[in-house]
Amino acid sequence: MSTSAIRPLIILGTRPEAIKLAPVIAECRSRLEDVNPIVCSTGQHREMLAQVLGYFGIEPDVDLKLMQPGQSLVGLTAACVEAVDQVIGSHRPDCIVVQGDTTTVMASAIAAFYRRVPIVHVEAGLRTGDLDAPWPEEFNRRVAGIVATCHCAPTIGAAEALYREGVLESAVRVTGNTVIDALLWTAEKERAAPDRWKEKYPMAVDQSLVLVTGHRRENFGTGLSNICGAISDLAEGFPELQFLYPVHLNPNVRGPVTEALGGRGNVHLLPPASYPEFVWLMDQSRLIITDSGGVQEEAPTLGKPVLVTREKTERPEAVEAGLAELVGTDRVQIVQRAAFHLRLPQAKNGMSHAENPYGDGQASRRIVEWMLSEVTA
Ligand code: UD1
Ligand code: UDP
Repeated sequence: MSTSAIRPLIILGTRPEAIKLAPVIAECRSRLEDVNPIVCSTGQHREMLAQVLGYFGIEPDVDLKLMQPGQSLVGLTAACVEAVDQVIGSHRPDCIVVQGDTTTVMASAIAAFYRRVPIVHVEAGLRTGDLDAPWPEEFNRRVAGIVATCHCAPTIGAAEALYREGVLESAVRVTGNTVIDALLWTAEKERAAPDRWKEKYPMAVDQSLVLVTGHRRENFGTGLSNICGAISDLAEGFPELQFLYPVHLNPNVRGPVTEALGGRGNVHLLPPASYPEFVWLMDQSRLIITDSGGVQEEAPTLGKPVLVTREKTERPEAVEAGLAELVGTDRVQIVQRAAFHLRLPQAKNGMSHAENPYGDGQASRRIVEWMLSEVTA
């Protein structure tokens, strides 16, 4: 290892951050002469994070173990700012790297700003323009956007949103989204050895699978209840199909979903699926119904029609390209649009064929190369 190698502190806390930073960590580790990363888990998530880190073989150098069952946004934010500040103080990194829009990102950005440490923000510039949707993620991203040094925008649209906020063009690069790097690597691996998943999911055959996820805070209550109502209607209307829903561990999700959908023959409620498992399930699906950010980016890459159960999305590219449909959380609307896609022969579904706008699998390389040119040891 060279003594002139830069030392970025790569901070992650939740499932999607780990998935999207795994290729960045791998890229750093392939260039140890130039970059020697310190990986810090805030532990905002526990089991769902461990699943991903295990799959990608990442052992954090620092684990802050912050998750509390039913944690509050304030409690987590306060603990995270304090704990990350101490890690920065003891490790003295040359920069921090954060990804996306979680509390981990916002709190780490605040801590690094106060310590005057440069911030590389991966997946920068996503905006709906509405602080209530997604809540609180739109706020988290904007906070990171105020203080970041390098804004790694996944798309041209995201870069333009940053310019509109006054970010200098020289501080923005369009890199693509690292989720595509992770997805392509994983899909190739799982397609080559599908037997364990075929055995675990005998129902996932003959294009009979509808994959569902839902966990957004702004959908808690009525929205989530409507989504579950729609799944229930669809399961009844399409008894030959299997509806598979790996349920997020947030008690505000798990409780209502289990209550609304438990005990139905063709609705399968599962614990969160490991990443390779979930990628395989997406690959087998006929239709995906989700409010997830990451899944909106992945489905088009796999050529899967996706209905987005949100009123607004900060990822408009797939909708504009005809690869995703924003259906909101109205029960009737979800049922109608899902039924439309389920009745359409796959070959005739345009959503399965357009080109994915989120990346080409090279985002991590671009990000690390840019970081190396901007950050000094
Ligand atoms: C968080 C992010 C959200 C992201 C999502 C990805 C914030 C404010 N929210 O939401 O942007 O889309 O992660 O999944 O940062 N829990 C467990 N085990 C786990 C993970 C969560 O039991 O491995 C339970 C705990 O009770 C925890 C609760 O879920 O307190 C909420 O976790 P939290 O990270 O605060 O919010 P998410 O809804 O997961
Ligand atoms: N995912 C997973 N297992 C699941 C559900 C999702 O591995 O049971 C993956 C999915 O492929 C995507 C990421 O988790 O890469 C999205 O995470 P999530 O929906 O929790 O968060 P968001 O992207 O909405 O912030």
